[in-house]
Amino acid sequence: MTVPRSEYLSSAWADGIFANRVLFITGGAGTIGSAQTRAFVHLGGDACIIGRNVEKTEAAAKEIAKVRQGARVIGIGGVDVRSFDKLKAAADRCVKELGGIDFVVAGAAGNFIAPIAGLSPNAFKTVIEIDTIGTFNTIKATIDHLVASASRNPNPSPSGRTGGRMISVSATFHYTGMPLQSHVSAAKAAIDSLMGSVALEYGPFGVTANTIAPGAIAGTEGMERLASKEMDHAQHTKGVPSGRWGTVRDIADATVFLFSDAGNYLNGTNVIVDGAAWRRHGSL
Ligand code: HXC
Repeated sequence: MTVPRSEYLSSAWADGIFANRVLFITGGAGTIGSAQTRAFVHLGGDACIIGRNVEKTEAAAKEIAKVRQGARVIGIGGVDVRSFDKLKAAADRCVKELGGIDFVVAGAAGNFIAPIAGLSPNAFKTVIEIDTIGTFNTIKATIDHLVASASRNPNPSPSGRTGGRMISVSATFHYTGMPLQSHVSAAKAAIDSLMGSVALEYGPFGVTANTIAPGAIAGTEGMERLASKEMDHAQHTKGVPSGRWGTVRDIADATVFLFSDAGNYLNGTNVIVDGAAWRRHGSL
């Protein structure tokens, strides 16, 4: 069944803005990642989706390719972001098959609900390895390609065409700390810091590096786990200043904005997409 555009992309964006551009996305078969990829591909781009599970990753790529006739979407499964070598091989394959990497989303993440007392040292380390080190590995495997794309696509963009941009998916937990999420909170704090460093080191080469911090996004694995244990949905929704949970489209639209010509001067910043929830609750 075709996913209607209204579920993953605002009508504000013009078709074709990402034509002949390539997105490399880790976690691209996940709920948020597939909406980000679908939006990018809808607007003219091609994509490489990186995932751990081979079947899930290949199936997501096939499904997303249906969004636009002629779209090239490759699913590269069997890649754990904890392995730099596998990520590097995936980036090389993406360049070989699609001609380059113009945009990167580091979206792969690991999460579970656990109090500090219930976290073994290995449990804490596992999330740091997937989220933080996985993001570092993604940066390292793709940064030369982003620099090359930025040099082909000067920022600001006289042509309106962009390239050389990276987004990491973060969170708002670490602004205050978060019970049952100490591991994720610490991992995401490090990701924000890493992306700031990328912005400072690679801004002079025309690359931009930002994070998107989603609030409570309906239908995601993370929220299903958190919400079922910790929250009453209706009560929580009432507490979000914008009056609703977020949608995957909210995150996809923020992604398109940061990657588009409208996002030229956003660099080294966190785009919080949470309906102002963290200002009221400290987090979700
Ligand atoms: C306590 C746990 C645990 C739990 C695992 N561990 N689950 N500890 N409570 N619920 C411990 C294990 O016992 C082990 O420690 C260590 O963590 C590693 O577990 P493994 O299963 O060996 O790791 P691995 O197979 O690599 O799996 C990683 C994973 C898993 C993170 C544990 O859940 C995973 O692969 N998740 C990927 C998908 C995912 O989480 N998506 C949601 C992302 S949402 P010991 O000491 O026993 O060896 C997200 C957004 C956050 O991140 C924001 C939400 C709003």
